[in-house]
Amino acid sequence: MARLALVTGGARGLGAAMSVALKDAGHRVVAIDVNEQTGKEFTEKTGIPVYLVDVSDFAATKEGIAKIVADHGPIEIVVNNAGITRDAPLHKMSAEQWEAVIKVNLNSMFNVTRQVIESMREKGFGRIICISSVNGQVGQFGQANYSAAKAGVLGFIRAVAQEGAAKGITANAICPGYINTEMVAKIAPDILSKIVAKIPTGRLGEPKEIARTVVFLAADEAQFINGATFSVNGGQFTI
Ligand SMILES: NC(=O)c1ccc[n+]([C@@H]2O[C@H](COP(=O)([O-])OP(=O)(O)OC[C@H]3O[C@@H](n4cnc5c(N)ncnc54)[C@H](O)[C@@H]3O)[C@@H](O)[C@H]2O)c1
Repeated sequence: MARLALVTGGARGLGAAMSVALKDAGHRVVAIDVNEQTGKEFTEKTGIPVYLVDVSDFAATKEGIAKIVADHGPIEIVVNNAGITRDAPLHKMSAEQWEAVIKVNLNSMFNVTRQVIESMREKGFGRIICISSVNGQVGQFGQANYSAAKAGVLGFIRAVAQEGAAKGITANAICPGYINTEMVAKIAPDILSKIVAKIPTGRLGEPKEIARTVVFLAADEAQFINGATFSVNGGQFTI
């Protein structure tokens, strides 16, 4: 059944691929992003509306999602995808680097999902899909902030899955491995080639390979898949 889907960070990288894949699957799609130019170009290319909302800010997210609901109706599928990195080993990490990553990657789970959970409960249907990371499963040098936030996402979906199950709501996480996006392009080439050498598939993943998992979890037929974590990482790490 066609539903209304919201993808955060949905105008670039993995989020852009998710927005397009959900649209191609027949859903109505709205994206949230913080980058005005990226949002404008994405809407011109795809016809998917992009709302400028900072999901790390509770009040701004409440206001932004209220506007989306007023314009498009209640959100039935939410993909919590927006994320950032601010890498440094712990002994060099600043409080700003720690807080920025926790706010965007973890607080956003609450800030966004809190706005849609009540209407999902009323409707008796909801799909909450949260983007974690392989580095939230195994940890990563230089990413104490990011690994902590992404591991927190896994606890979040397990609790929300239990709360929503009887109301037709599922909450699941996807842990991408290393995917060919601008986030990964920021990694130094010598480090990246060492990372790729450890991926059994022998290459980076493509955004559409994560988007495919999102479409699968968003389906009406996916109701019994709840509280689960999907590793999509070319066999790099499985749990
Ligand atoms: N690329 C990878 O290999 C990889 C691997 C594992 C997990 N992830 C996760 O997947 C998600 C998407 O990653 P990506 O590689 O596409 O990143 P990206 O940087 O290419 O895109 C992220 C998008 O989120 C938006 N965004 C950032 N902060 C925001 C905020 N506060 N409010 C709203 N939008 C915001 C950005 O403007 C951007 O459009 C992230 O959560 C990331 O941690 C990525």
